[in-house]
Amino acid sequence: MTASTGGDSRRGPIGTGRPGPSGDAQLIRRTLEEIEPISGQVTSYFYAMLFVQNPGMRDMFPAAMDAQRDRLFQALLTAADALDDTLALTEYLDGLGRGHRKYGTRPEHYPAVGEALMTALERYAVNSWGPEAEAAWVRAYTAISQTMIDAAAEDELRSPAWWKAEVVGHERRAGNVAVITVRPDQPYPYRAGQYTTVETPWWPRVWRHYSFASCPRPDGLLSFHVKAVPTGWVSTALVNRARPGDVIRLGPPAGSMTVDHDSNSGLLCVGGSTGIAPIKAMVEDVARHGRRRLMEVFFGARREAELYDLDAFLQLEKRHQWLSVRPVVSDSPAHALGGELPDAVIQAGPWREFDGYLSGPPQMVRKGVDALVSAGIPAERIRHDFIGNRVAAES
Ligand SMILES: Cc1cc2nc3c(=O)[nH]c(=O)nc-3n(C[C@H](O)[C@H](O)[C@H](O)COP(=O)(O)OP(=O)(O)OC[C@H]3O[C@@H](n4cnc5c(N)ncnc54)[C@H](O)[C@@H]3O)c2cc1C
Ligand code: HEM
Repeated sequence: MTASTGGDSRRGPIGTGRPGPSGDAQLIRRTLEEIEPISGQVTSYFYAMLFVQNPGMRDMFPAAMDAQRDRLFQALLTAADALDDTLALTEYLDGLGRGHRKYGTRPEHYPAVGEALMTALERYAVNSWGPEAEAAWVRAYTAISQTMIDAAAEDELRSPAWWKAEVVGHERRAGNVAVITVRPDQPYPYRAGQYTTVETPWWPRVWRHYSFASCPRPDGLLSFHVKAVPTGWVSTALVNRARPGDVIRLGPPAGSMTVDHDSNSGLLCVGGSTGIAPIKAMVEDVARHGRRRLMEVFFGARREAELYDLDAFLQLEKRHQWLSVRPVVSDSPAHALGGELPDAVIQAGPWREFDGYLSGPPQMVRKGVDALVSAGIPAERIRHDFIGNRVAAES
């Protein structure tokens, strides 16, 4: 069996424009449902096949892949799962394709990954696999790959594969958070609300996503809010080890949670933990844009001490009459600010006249979408980067 990468990426399962799940999407979902309970085994087999048949590709991946190994595979599943949501999927895949340049991924690597994927699926999806399912997977993988390859090729004409950036500021905050400021070695274009990937010198080839915590600045500096998670490789290194003078690498910007300046609606922004970082960048963006639109920010954390950037938000609230900031603390229901973030948002609604923006841990985003819909915001006016977060949620 073969998984080619030729053909027109916008034909086939991506971009069919058909309502409801297409035939291919149904076949693919059936395979996914079958392998979901044994996805760990499928992933291990997939990588074993990939590296046995292509030993040269092993060095492109991190030395230890225990926690990270299923990201590539999970993304294939995420993309296959979302085959009928053309716009979101294309945006996601364009970002992934651009992001893969930093790994040294070339078009000729895609068929190898496709072969390993098909071999793993054939072995484990015994009940749902067959000529029709295989043909659907080949079409989907071909379209997914081609979208990524095209996006990478286009990006090559105008951008480096990665940027070096020197740490110029490192400030510890409550809740194991550090606010880190870096200076890229060449101009770094991005939009408020987006995120990038970061590699530290201490864990080569291990990249993690971090959101920009400020709007693009005239001095070109970028800032991030990083929370050290227990046993976390990159976050712990950035919070506990990084110091001014250290040099990290940045991938290209990605993400669609940007302010729609053509909309007249207010902005309802819900940020949990360091998910508040891109929302801070968005507040600066709205302030700079000059058109005064109501902006309601909910900042959630488990404990009051973890509202590490509340003072800065309260300062912004004083400065801008159109901005309102409400802290919410989930572990202290009796506290004046107590409660679950989605409940607090619903209680303060309705929000029919607002566009919704959500950022934070995947579980919070998932619940937040339901809350915003029930508070009157149509799903198509809610922005978040959930599609890529399925990957993070599994890590
Ligand atoms: C689009 C996007 C934007 C992001 N923006 C930010 C940001 O601005 N600031 C920020 O701090 N993080 C952000 N993250 C999360 C970040 O990418 C990493 O997942 C996080 O820093 C952990 O990486 P690590 O290498 O330290 O942990 P890993 O080595 O990957 O994980 C080690 C262990 O920690 C667990 N773990 C992973 N993440 C968490 C978590 N959040 N809470 C508790 N346990 C966890 C894992 O399950 C694993 O057991 C973002 C993620 C996405 C997808
Ligand atoms: C349709 C095909 C593919 C999809 C959907 C996909 C998806 C992903 C995703 C989501 C990640 C996690 C980090 C990120 O967001 O950048 C990743 C990491 C990676 N991918 Fe891909 N990928 C594909 C093909 C390839 C190919 C052909 C290569 C070639 C070697 C490759 C090499 C890598 C490497 C080296 C990493 C980093 C590994 C890690 O962090 O564990 N990918 N991929």
